[in-house]
Amino acid sequence: MASSFRVCGSHMSGRGRVLTQFQIIDRCLQRTFGTNVVAAAQSEAPKKEEIDDREGFKTFDAAQSERQEQAERSVLVSCNSTTNEQRFLKYLSRHGDVKKCFFYESYGTYAVVEFAKQESIASLQEVITIPVVNHECMLPFKSRLLSLRSGPSADLPNSQMGPQCQPQTTMPIQELIHRLSKEESIDQQIISLTESYQLTEENTRLRFLVCSLLKDIAAAYFPECTVRPFGSSVNGFGKLGCDLDMFLDLDSISGRKAKMPKAGLALEYQMKRTNSERAVTQSILSVIGECVDQFGPGCVGVQKILNARCPLVRFNHQPSGFQCDLTANNRVATKSSELLYLYGRLDPRVRHLVFAVRCWARAHGVTSSIPGAWITNFSLTVMVLFFLQRRSPDPVIPTLDHLRGLAGPADKSVIEGNDCTFVGDFSKIPPQSNTQTLEQLLHEFFDFFSTFAFGRMSINIRKGKEQNKPEVAPLHIQNPFEPSLNVSKNVNAPQLERFVALCQESSWLLQQSETSLPDARRSAPTPWGLAALLLPSQVAGLKGRKKRKREPASERIKSLLESLKKNSHQKKSSDPK
Ligand code: CTP
Ligand code: MG
Repeated sequence: MASSFRVCGSHMSGRGRVLTQFQIIDRCLQRTFGTNVVAAAQSEAPKKEEIDDREGFKTFDAAQSERQEQAERSVLVSCNSTTNEQRFLKYLSRHGDVKKCFFYESYGTYAVVEFAKQESIASLQEVITIPVVNHECMLPFKSRLLSLRSGPSADLPNSQMGPQCQPQTTMPIQELIHRLSKEESIDQQIISLTESYQLTEENTRLRFLVCSLLKDIAAAYFPECTVRPFGSSVNGFGKLGCDLDMFLDLDSISGRKAKMPKAGLALEYQMKRTNSERAVTQSILSVIGECVDQFGPGCVGVQKILNARCPLVRFNHQPSGFQCDLTANNRVATKSSELLYLYGRLDPRVRHLVFAVRCWARAHGVTSSIPGAWITNFSLTVMVLFFLQRRSPDPVIPTLDHLRGLAGPADKSVIEGNDCTFVGDFSKIPPQSNTQTLEQLLHEFFDFFSTFAFGRMSINIRKGKEQNKPEVAPLHIQNPFEPSLNVSKNVNAPQLERFVALCQESSWLLQQSETSLPDARRSAPTPWGLAALLLPSQVAGLKGRKKRKREPASERIKSLLESLKKNSHQKKSSDPK
């Protein structure tokens, strides 16, 4: 039951400092993705068992299919805080075994119920009734979003606690800073940040369930369709509260192209014609958007944004609390989600560094959920990947061209003329021998981008090398699968300057931590290390001003100086006279 989802505490055991940290990271990955352990980076050549461990990871497609199938067997039920969990489960089990069930809160209490068998859903649907509400009429669309009705005697008495709810949002930044300040090392802080922010097992299930509910709506027009999540919901870099990017996949319908019969007869569908793929996508999304708006229970604030480069329908799914973006014909983005997923699985440091950098950027307003001239999370992720490819002498991850070289015939993928081929089987990718700690990598990340030649160079993870910039945009990050596109086209010069200035300041702060903080670290809860990097900065307030020199004087630095002062006081009082 609900308690079986609870995240267990961190473990310490080990073969030396670096390896111990990676073991913790691996467990953290296992908890989130239910997969086996990835081989930790080590100074020696990879051992056979480490490569075997990698084989335990599911490929992206296998992981997705499993989740989708799970979601098809699930229902979402609006309950209340006094629902008697045992009675509820007993009632449901009349329709078949309940495999998993958990509760959460979002404008009320909800339960996600996964049955062991698909037939249970049909059996349940036979007994579900239509609500009768005075003076209101219902749009008779039946979905798997249900409401539990119970007489007073069926609820829990006041003296008993209701079902335990699983959190679906991240802790506030101040609480995070406090938590990180108590950690013993910067590596631990980075790991703790990931553990606090990453998507939980329950939240991932809920995301797939919302896709499955959406599919039921779209299936009214396109019975063979699938709705797949992409972006941070599935690429391993999602944070609790991130949006839900979905892709309406009609390939099983449009993929079967007719051939002229050599002999005999053949039938084909008569279909309306339009003049472009884009027009097809716009028509489909227009109709599905209308259905979501008119019939989708819990779907509110529906906006059809059909003239965007990538047309989409945006809405809020109230029962889950997710901000949803539904697209169609967006296969390339699905492929980049798969690539990010793969990089995140190759080495646990990848995810940790991405989480740390994204959180740092968000804390300083370098990124935002509101569209604008900010560097997006996707761009930041690609920047981290590029940085990890550029580590010398040993990169942490291989280039995309290298991954393409390792691909087999089954990996071949060309989408709209773009070569999206890369190896999907982890076991074919030899582990890299880089053994740098997370602290070293974070520090080097800030140094790297403090001095990067943004004015002349473009970031390219396909080659793993900076290239001459093909356009004048302040920041140029080549889309890994659509080389003519700049992922960060939206970023303006002041935003890039703020990013660089913050990198300089953060590098300086980490430098101070390295040289003079070992004792001050114990003087928690004064923010130090990564926690100090998340404190407000004066640099972050600079808008369009001239480039800042290396003279940090922000709240973060004041905090650092304070902790140094405290430390020297402590030292003095404990020094033997
Ligand atoms: N994408 C892209 N090019 C862009 C922006 C987005 O190819 N310029 C694709 C990426 O695959 C990205 C996905 O669309 O992962 C979803 O975009 P977005 O929601 O902006 O980013 P996420 O990676 O989902 O991150 P976030 O947590 O901020 O939602
Ligand atoms: Mg997203």
